[in-house]
Amino acid sequence: MHRPSWDEGYTVDVDYVREYFGDWIPDRVRFALLSNGWQAPALHTACELGYGQGVTLAIGAAAGSTTWTGTDFNPSHAVFARALVDGEARVYDDSFAEFAARDDLPMFDMIVLHGIWSWVSEANRQVIVDFLKRRLAVGGVVYISYNVPYGWTSVAAVRHLMKHHYETRSDRSAGLEARVRSTIAFAESLVATRAGHLAAQPQAADRIARLKTLDWRYVLHEYLNEDWHPDYFADVARTLSAGAKLGWACPAHFHDQVDILSLTTDQMRLVGEVNDPIARETMRDFFCNRNFRRDLFLRGGSRIAGRRQREALSGFTLMLLTRRQDVSATIGAAGHSAQLQPAIYDPILDRLAAGPVGVGELIARHEANGISLGQTIEAIRVLLGRYEVGFVQEEATIAARRPATDALNRRLLDFAGEDLRFLASPVIGAGVPVDSIHQLFIAARLAGRTKVAELADHALASLAAGGRSLVDDGKPITDPLVAREKMVKIVEGFLENRLPLLERLQVI
Ligand SMILES: C[S@@+](CC[C@H](N)C(=O)[O-])C[C@H]1O[C@@H](n2cnc3c(N)ncnc32)[C@H](O)[C@@H]1O
Repeated sequence: MHRPSWDEGYTVDVDYVREYFGDWIPDRVRFALLSNGWQAPALHTACELGYGQGVTLAIGAAAGSTTWTGTDFNPSHAVFARALVDGEARVYDDSFAEFAARDDLPMFDMIVLHGIWSWVSEANRQVIVDFLKRRLAVGGVVYISYNVPYGWTSVAAVRHLMKHHYETRSDRSAGLEARVRSTIAFAESLVATRAGHLAAQPQAADRIARLKTLDWRYVLHEYLNEDWHPDYFADVARTLSAGAKLGWACPAHFHDQVDILSLTTDQMRLVGEVNDPIARETMRDFFCNRNFRRDLFLRGGSRIAGRRQREALSGFTLMLLTRRQDVSATIGAAGHSAQLQPAIYDPILDRLAAGPVGVGELIARHEANGISLGQTIEAIRVLLGRYEVGFVQEEATIAARRPATDALNRRLLDFAGEDLRFLASPVIGAGVPVDSIHQLFIAARLAGRTKVAELADHALASLAAGGRSLVDDGKPITDPLVAREKMVKIVEGFLENRLPLLERLQVI
C-alpha cells in the first residue's frame, strides 16, 4: 500500500471522526482546578496538538474568548478545520516537530492533547514534552488524555492479533472500511474458538462484541494504529514532571473527581490511607479498571483554599442544559450505580430550572440547610460530568461571540443530517449536541420556514436528497405517508422540548 512520507506511522488513510469534546472548555478546566484547590490561570491563549477535524477547536474559538491555535499534520484535516474556523483561530498542518520549531507562536495558557499521547512514537512524545516545556506559560495548564493499561489488559492480546491480521491478511484491494470490518470479524471468530487466553480474560468477549457497534474509523485509529502505548498514570506524571516541569493537578473529567461514582466504601478507605496523590490516583485506576485517563497538569500550581477559594468558585454561573424533568435521578459509572440524593440535588435543580444561578448562591442556600460546600461541589461535578449544566459567560462576551457562532453554525449546518452533531453556543462558550434531524429543522428555520409542515417536508426532502430515509426501530420507513406522519411528530417534539433551550443558548 502506498503510504505518504509524512505520516510518521500514524493512520492517515482515512480522516478522523468529526467529534466535539467538552472536557477542555476553558470554564470547565478553571472550575475543575479551583474546586480541587488550585489557583486557575486565566486562559487567554490555548493550543490543541492534533486537533483531528478541528470541530472542538472551531467551536471553542467561535464561542469563547480564548484565542486558539492548533496543528494536525493531516492536510485533509487542516482543510476541513480551516474552513470551519474561518479566521477565528490559527490552524496549521504542521507535524508536531515542525510546529515546535516555529518561531511565530505565542506562549500558551493551556495546551490540549486529546487522543494523541498513546498513539504516537516515543520520538514524537519527546517533541511534545519539549514543546510543553518551551511553549506553556508559567502557571499554565495542560489537558492530556491517554490509555492506561488496567482496562486494556483483557483485549491487548486480541488487539495485537487484530493488528497482525489487518496488516498481513486483510484484502488491501477491498478498501479500508472493508479491511477494518474483516478485522473485526476475525476478532469475533477468535471468541468462538473458546481460546484459553479469552477464558482467562472474561471481559474480552464483550469488548470484541462491541467493536462492530463502533465507528469503523474509530476502530482503525484505536486498534490498528502503528503506535499504541497505554501508560500507567505514574509514568505519565513522571515524564511530564521531568521534561516539562508539570505537576499533576486533578482528573479533567468531573466524574473522575467523585470517588463514590466508581469506588466501593472499602476501596475509598484504602485510597484515603495513601498520602501520595500519584499513588492514590494509580490505586483508583486499578480499582475501577480504568482504560483511559484525562488529566490536568499545571506548570507551577498554587494552592487556594478557604474564603479565597469560595469567592473564586462563586464567580461561576451555571445554567441547565436539559429540561429539569429529563435529569435522571440515577447515576451509573464504572459498574456502580447510585441515586442522586434528593435533599442535595432537588434544590439545585429546582433553582436551575428557574434560570441561570451563581455557584455562590447555590453554596449559600445549601449551607443554610446544613449541606456542606463539599457536598454542593460534588453535586455540581456530577451534573457537569453529565453535561446537564454548563457555565454561562459574561453578557459582553456572549454579545461579542454571537456573530462568530452564528456564522460557524451556518457552516456546521452545511453538514446537517451527516455525522457532525454539535452546534456552538455563545452563552456557554461551548458546543451543544443537536441531533441530525433537528439540525435539518434548524437549517429550514434559517431559510425562513417555520411551520410544522414546512420543517417536516424540508427534513424529508433533505434526507431523500442524501439517499437516506427516516427510520423506525432501526428499519427505514418506506411508506411516504407513514414517514411524513412520523416526521411531523418529531418536529412537534423538537418545537416543544428542544427549541426553547436552543434559543436560550443562542444556538438559534
Ligand atoms: C486520535 S486523533 C485525535 C484527534 C482529536 N484530538 C480528537 O480527539 O478528536 C489524533 C490526531 O493527531 C494527528 N497526528 C498524529 N500524529 C501527528 C504528528 N506527528 N503531528 C501532527 N499531528 C499528528 C492525526 O492526524 C489525528 O488527527
